[in-house]
Amino acid sequence: MSAVVVVGLGWGDEGKGKIVDAIAAERGARLVLRFNGGPNAGHTVVPGIDLKSLPAGTAPPSWHDRVFRLHQVPSGIFTPGCISICGPGTVIDPDGFLAELAEVQELGGDISTILLSDRAHVVLQSHRDRDRLLEAARHATSPSLEQGTTKRGVGPCYEDRAAHIGLRLGDLLDGAYLDEYLPFFAAEQSRRLGAYGGLPVDARALRDQCDQWADALRPRIVDSFLLVRDALARNDTIILEGQLGVGRDVDWGIYPYVTSSGTTAGSAAAGTGVPVTAIREVIGVAKAFSTSVGSGPFVTEVHGAEAMRFREAGGSETEHEYGVTTGRPRRCGWFDAVATRQAAQINGCTGIALTKVDALEGFDEVKIAASYDQGGKAIDYVPSNTRTIGHLSPVYELFPGWTGGTRDVRVWSELPAAARMYADAVQDACGVPVAYAGTGPTRLALAPRHS
Ligand code: GDP
Ligand code: IMO
Ligand code: MG
Repeated sequence: MSAVVVVGLGWGDEGKGKIVDAIAAERGARLVLRFNGGPNAGHTVVPGIDLKSLPAGTAPPSWHDRVFRLHQVPSGIFTPGCISICGPGTVIDPDGFLAELAEVQELGGDISTILLSDRAHVVLQSHRDRDRLLEAARHATSPSLEQGTTKRGVGPCYEDRAAHIGLRLGDLLDGAYLDEYLPFFAAEQSRRLGAYGGLPVDARALRDQCDQWADALRPRIVDSFLLVRDALARNDTIILEGQLGVGRDVDWGIYPYVTSSGTTAGSAAAGTGVPVTAIREVIGVAKAFSTSVGSGPFVTEVHGAEAMRFREAGGSETEHEYGVTTGRPRRCGWFDAVATRQAAQINGCTGIALTKVDALEGFDEVKIAASYDQGGKAIDYVPSNTRTIGHLSPVYELFPGWTGGTRDVRVWSELPAAARMYADAVQDACGVPVAYAGTGPTRLALAPRHS
């Protein structure tokens, strides 16, 4: 059995999509399952193949080197022979999903291998409305209470799931159940929306919509348990792809500025049905500097030109730090080893993939927050009280910078000595081996430590 979990160790956008794509291809994964989240995700994948490895005269696949911004589609779709599934722990916006399939196909991606768990919940317009109206209510009470959600309806959908009144993808295929359930469900959605002044949900219109979705999605909706069971029995390589990172995990993040799902390896088992005992490896993805989008404390945040230096590092817009889903500029700061170490410990990480090492080129010196200062007292963990985090300041360790020579490097020993020293410092601070250094947005721009 060989299941590998890929999770974010920061506040999202660490480069999980790139790492899942690279590892799935490297290891010949047969199943990639997303285990949490939904249309709030934005995973950038630039799949590529080594052109020198192609037999003479063979053209590369049409998706080669194109930029894919995936939201609900898992990042395994560029690995031949791999099935990609949105697992039971995910929430799916059917219209967004269908639009994304069309975009992926337009760019030359193969959409025939994408399946959806019948246990995944359906995100509806009423969820998006509630998300928006709840944010507006928070803002009206006090602007500082606004959370900066992606407004994709993810929170309200998970709320309905936990209250066991939600609609699952499998329900779309059961007309008799919809006849019985939708009148109650629509009334319940209307009651919840009405509390914020939203318009009522019409059960008949919702029924028509469900029928259209059922027609469009029927061949893709499956009981993923059977596929997982058979893949485990065959000893296939399975990758469990996370959404967001520990900093916004519903239990371990900066509550209440969090998402509504679990982002850790524990949730990966629960959200896919891959047993914890089958997980052999947990790869934590951490960016070489920190980013966050949305509200909440951010101990190592920098502002103005200093933030812009991180935000627009690198040669292409693909890798600039603007939200893939909402387009918002990401907040930026130095690497936070306290938060990353804690995240790695909660996940039981066996290795770290340190992405965007190339983006640090050109600094005279680079910094890692080794601890926090709380009024003269050193703190080596993330306090559970989010208000307390807002009053901490970073205590930095400084390392020499490097001027170039990192971009697209694929062999560890060919990285600049100072970049290797930086990766080693991250490894020492987090207590987990840095197994990969990311050196550019493409699949091939990755240096495994043992190369
Ligand atoms: P995800 O949500 O964790 O999949 O990450 P996002 O795709 O939202 O954000 C990561 C950003 O970093 C994207 O713009 C990627 O193209 C880019 N990226 C990922 N790894 C690397 C890397 O090693 N170097 C560079 N320069 N960019 C990278
Ligand atoms: P990926 O998978 C970065 C943030 C939002 C907000 C909080 C709650 O690309 O890393 P939600 O819409 O989930 O209720 O918003 O979480 N957020 C993300 N930030 N990357 C993401 O996904 C995110 N998904 C949600 O900005 O602060
Ligand atoms: Mg992202």
